[in-house]
Amino acid sequence: MSDADIGLVGLGTMGSALALNIAEKGFRVAVWNREEARIGQFVAEAGELASGIVPCTTLEALMEAIRPPRPVLLMIPSGAPVDSMIGRLKPLAGEGDILIDAGNADFRETVRRIGEFRDSSATFVGMGVSGGEDGARHGPSIMVGGELAAWERIAPVLTAIAAKYEGEPCAALLGPDGAGHFVKTIHNGIEYADMQMIAEVYGLMRDGLGMKPADISAVFAGWNGGRLNSYLIEITARVLAVTDPQSGTPIVDLIVDAAGQKGTGRWAAIEAQHLGVPATAIEAAVAARNLSAQRAERATAATTFPSTFLPEQTTAASDIVRELEQALLAGKIVAYAQGFAVMAEASREHGWDVPLDTVARIWRAGCIIRSQFLGEIASAFADGPAGNLVLAPAFAALMAETHPALRVTVGRAALQGLPVPALSAALSWFDSWRQARGTANLIQAQRDFFGAHGFERIDREGPQHGPWGAAQG
Ligand code: 6PG
Repeated sequence: MSDADIGLVGLGTMGSALALNIAEKGFRVAVWNREEARIGQFVAEAGELASGIVPCTTLEALMEAIRPPRPVLLMIPSGAPVDSMIGRLKPLAGEGDILIDAGNADFRETVRRIGEFRDSSATFVGMGVSGGEDGARHGPSIMVGGELAAWERIAPVLTAIAAKYEGEPCAALLGPDGAGHFVKTIHNGIEYADMQMIAEVYGLMRDGLGMKPADISAVFAGWNGGRLNSYLIEITARVLAVTDPQSGTPIVDLIVDAAGQKGTGRWAAIEAQHLGVPATAIEAAVAARNLSAQRAERATAATTFPSTFLPEQTTAASDIVRELEQALLAGKIVAYAQGFAVMAEASREHGWDVPLDTVARIWRAGCIIRSQFLGEIASAFADGPAGNLVLAPAFAALMAETHPALRVTVGRAALQGLPVPALSAALSWFDSWRQARGTANLIQAQRDFFGAHGFERIDREGPQHGPWGAAQG
């Protein structure tokens, strides 16, 4: 009987959580998994939600179980597995059917896959889902790229399962083809920058002020009640308070200092470079993860360059902590402004017309970077900011208030020999960006000197060359 509202392929952690979320919202979901044993196990564990789940042991049965036009969510590892699954499902898909890649994907792959559906009566949708397992189960943020007709078919399910911010669902169609996966990629780039800056501030409290994890936890918990209120600050406070049950040591002190990465942050940095948009805080955060992984080399370097210049601290620790809060806010403004600038440029380049206020609105709940700050960004974009977010009146005022603390923090960290790559990248971007007369005039002179690349003059029209003459000889 074709009465399921949607199909779902892949009952891993995220797929299972999403399927339960769908069933809980009163929809029927047909499910299939590569390892057949998992299907029965999933239904058995679903409790009373099992009545909304249609277990299918073949992909043919899955397609037959769904009400046409048939949407199928793919919650499987990105890359080759997605292409292979498309290869199996496409021959089974008919008029108006919709295959939806709900994993993290390189948007270029999504654009290619959509192109490969042009000869088909079915369509392909690239959908970013954020919020981890808990989000998938109880309400993620959902970023959709695809055709309007496909969105209209799947919107009732997606808006029902998405997180709600003051009753508004955190799910939206953000543009055609790769727009959804692109926006998710930038979400992750911002996530990397946010996490890196938080880690840098933690480092300044740990190594600069000699604070213990429990005390740092209390600081983050306090900040979470203020303007930095966000999911990442909240979990940072919680993580720092946890101790290892065996030793009683704070667990954070026992964790190896090498961060993993699945690649989405790197994609964000690469796309920013492709588009020629400076996203320095995101790039620094990706590089910092790379550097964190070079543990052996860092150990050697620590022996070669052991001494850290720690000037005597004259500022009271409580004042420094207050500065850190402001510095983190200033850094965060820059990271988000850079991420939104990348999305704006991608939208122009690909003709997607991504509604940036909607992006900010659907990030207010459900996703990893959710925060009250995103509500302020949504309002700034709704008021129609021309140009960079930092020029929107509310953010310009906030930046004017907080950048002095960022400056002091980065300066103090440099003198102490403590690394703050993302915070200092944010500060350097800000200082370069607000410099009406930069230093690229010298670079233009050098380029013309060695390569006759030409330059423009401030006092004459048209391409120019320098009177290098004898200086070149
Ligand atoms: C989300 C997350 C998620 C991501 C993890 C791990 O929005 O729910 O961004 O998609 O996979 O955060 O990412 P890394 O392994 O790259 O840190």
